[in-house]
Amino acid sequence: MNLNIALLAGDGIGPEVIDQAVKVCDAVAKKFDHTINWIPALTGAAAIDAVGDPYPPETHKICREADAVLFGAIGHPRFDNDPSAKVRPEQGLLKMRQELGLFANVRPTFTFPSLVDKSPLKRERIEGTDLVFLRELTGGIYFGKRGREDNGDTAYDTCTYTRKEVQRLAKKGFELAMRRSKKLCCVDKANVLESSRLWRETVQAMEKDYPEVTVSYEFVDAVAMRLVQWPNSYDVLITENLFGDILTDEASVISGSMGLMPSASVGENVSLYEPIHGSYPQAAGKNIANPMATILSAAMMFEDFGLSEEATAIRDAVNQALETGMVTEDLADKDKAHGTDEVGNWLAAQI
Ligand code: IPM
Ligand code: MN
Repeated sequence: MNLNIALLAGDGIGPEVIDQAVKVCDAVAKKFDHTINWIPALTGAAAIDAVGDPYPPETHKICREADAVLFGAIGHPRFDNDPSAKVRPEQGLLKMRQELGLFANVRPTFTFPSLVDKSPLKRERIEGTDLVFLRELTGGIYFGKRGREDNGDTAYDTCTYTRKEVQRLAKKGFELAMRRSKKLCCVDKANVLESSRLWRETVQAMEKDYPEVTVSYEFVDAVAMRLVQWPNSYDVLITENLFGDILTDEASVISGSMGLMPSASVGENVSLYEPIHGSYPQAAGKNIANPMATILSAAMMFEDFGLSEEATAIRDAVNQALETGMVTEDLADKDKAHGTDEVGNWLAAQI
């Protein structure tokens, strides 16, 4: 295959972890006889500094025309401490999601046998956990009507969903459930919110098209609790944007390190692959960040291209690295930790 992949390194540890993913992908390409053309583009604080826009039109063009986008991280503390900043790196991420139509955010959470005891949760509670969140990504309160009234003393953000938006996300959920254990959980707050009642009603109406899938409907507060009590009781979960943002961060601690969890943002056309962690500015440039989440995101990309063997080669290499202790400091005692690039080089060589 000939693959054109837009490369958005972004901010903080983004460039370092992306470098390792590129090494690993190039090793995969060599082994399986593919050609990857990497097309770098600016995003985040780096793009604000260069051209004053966190998601410039040139970057959008490159992403739109690519077969996939590999993304590092976005965000810079300079903006977090300045509430008056007009342009923020995060706006680039939201604009990118919206303009590329990335409506479904796929966030798996699974445990690695060699790491079960690194989790803050007890082994017997998390063993065998293998669940996937499908978070709606281009609607809801993130993109609703917002504003201030009353001379700035009243602020509002509104959560709006259309039946169509719910249907296209739920369709992905049902399809994924069919390929997995045929269990789907719709997470909402239908006891309070009208938009949640639309979600529930829409998903209920779709059940007849997937008679093999067992659907449960659970309130988001209850899911937040059960997720840390019995995460292995879930399989595929679908939910709206903000609930999904919160629950997927919660779910990410189950595996033992946020530095391991990959994600894909899928749309009608191009898809984007990124680690779920942020830009981790405190670690930037120190060669200590865990590159595995980005590398496993690249594995999801190969999988979506229909290249399962390639994806498996990456996952196997990561498992071997975890088993042999070829890991960064988030997973090792300081004196046994390896550098970001060392882990990347090892994984590339392993492939
Ligand atoms: C995420 C992040 C983003 C979100 C922020 C950076 C806008 O937390 O990808 O989960 O809230 O969606
Ligand atoms: Mn988040």
